[in-house]
Amino acid sequence: MKALVYNGPRNVSVSDVPEPRITKPADAIIQITRTNICGADLHMYEGRTDLEAGRVLGHENMGRVAEIGPAVEKRKVGDMVCVPFNVACGHCRNCERGRTNYCLVANPDPQVAGSAYGFADMGPWSGGQAELLLVPWADFNCLPLPEDATEKQNDYVMIADSFPTGYHATEMANVTPGDSVVIYGSGSVGLMTAYSAILKSAGEVMVVDRHPDRLALAEKIGATPINDSKGSPVDQVMEITGGRGADCGCECVGYQAHDPQGHEHPNATLNDLVRSVRFNGTIGVVGEFVPFDPGAPDEMARHGEIAFDFGQFWFRGQAMGTGQCPVKAYNRYLRDLIHRGKASPSFVVSHQLPLAHAPEGYRHFDARDSGWTKVILSPAA
Ligand SMILES: NC(=O)c1ccc[n+]([C@@H]2O[C@H](COP(=O)([O-])OP(=O)(O)OC[C@H]3O[C@@H](n4cnc5c(N)ncnc54)[C@H](O)[C@@H]3O)[C@@H](O)[C@H]2O)c1
Ligand SMILES: [Zn+2]
Ligand SMILES: [Zn+2]
Repeated sequence: MKALVYNGPRNVSVSDVPEPRITKPADAIIQITRTNICGADLHMYEGRTDLEAGRVLGHENMGRVAEIGPAVEKRKVGDMVCVPFNVACGHCRNCERGRTNYCLVANPDPQVAGSAYGFADMGPWSGGQAELLLVPWADFNCLPLPEDATEKQNDYVMIADSFPTGYHATEMANVTPGDSVVIYGSGSVGLMTAYSAILKSAGEVMVVDRHPDRLALAEKIGATPINDSKGSPVDQVMEITGGRGADCGCECVGYQAHDPQGHEHPNATLNDLVRSVRFNGTIGVVGEFVPFDPGAPDEMARHGEIAFDFGQFWFRGQAMGTGQCPVKAYNRYLRDLIHRGKASPSFVVSHQLPLAHAPEGYRHFDARDSGWTKVILSPAA
């Protein structure tokens, strides 16, 4: 079958790879109809992880069940399903508590909890930017989609990652009705965070970035865009919030945060958040940070260490949540919002390309070319 293969930094190709096969009774194989390119794929694409050459990328997947193992009871061939990016067993200590983001079984590395498809350091699972995807523990991992699945594919595919991840950022930041919220990053995760905060009736939602096309999308859904190339984002947030700072803050950029000129400062968004959020406010960090980053511009960051203003954070009595999103904690409910016409996360999608054009999609998305906000690949209709 055809799949998007990582060959090395900024080098991906659509190549022939072996088709997946059912080896465990609870496995299913999904024919992929939609699979997104994510900002997380770009950390790997740029060679800023230890992803092995030859791996198939793609963790934001949906499609049609093509084959099931003998123990799969709830899903049947032909069902349309959306697959959380987390691979989870469903019955370990963490899965039982809804923490599928830190499943203790799906990642064979005993030092690491948590697993994902087509992802560096997150287990052996192959990605879904391919014609077919193997999904283990299929009853647990395949969310069934209603009868409008085909018509609303570009909405439903967003619940594999960006939409629940954005929602999770607002949960960790404790967003409640009327709150002011500042979000750093206006990629699809930042935009989904803004959208989730608005769904939760936040009073004021501010989104910081420097790409006018992405900020325009934030404005379109009712958020206040803050362009940090036009002046300090902290000063702009202070002005909007009457000098108090936002009640809640969300980090949706990650360790490759940079200044508007492109120089990386992995601590930039965290320190700006601490100063943009009020005393006793809460911060949710979904942007990805890593324990080691050999390609980092400075020695500290190479060891995953960043110069965080802990003194200021402590002095302000703030709280912070971090980590991967447990997609299954939210995907059923976000699916129902889409089904009932109350949410339409596909507003972030700028391009839908056939799988064969995936390398071109990676190139433009990685360059953050204007208008390339979110790329969906469609290996099958
Ligand atoms: N925690 C999770 O479960 C989870 C899930 C999905 C993605 N992620 C992570 O979320 C992050 C964002 O993903 P995405 O798909 O939106 O990526 P993206 O690359 O499309 O967007 C990132 C945005 O951040 C902006 N940015 C860079 N430096 C900035 C700064 N200093 N201040 C403000 N904005 C800045 C960029 O201009 C860009 O628009 C990535 O690190 C990704 O790995 C985490
Ligand atoms: Zn993703
Ligand atoms: Zn588990």
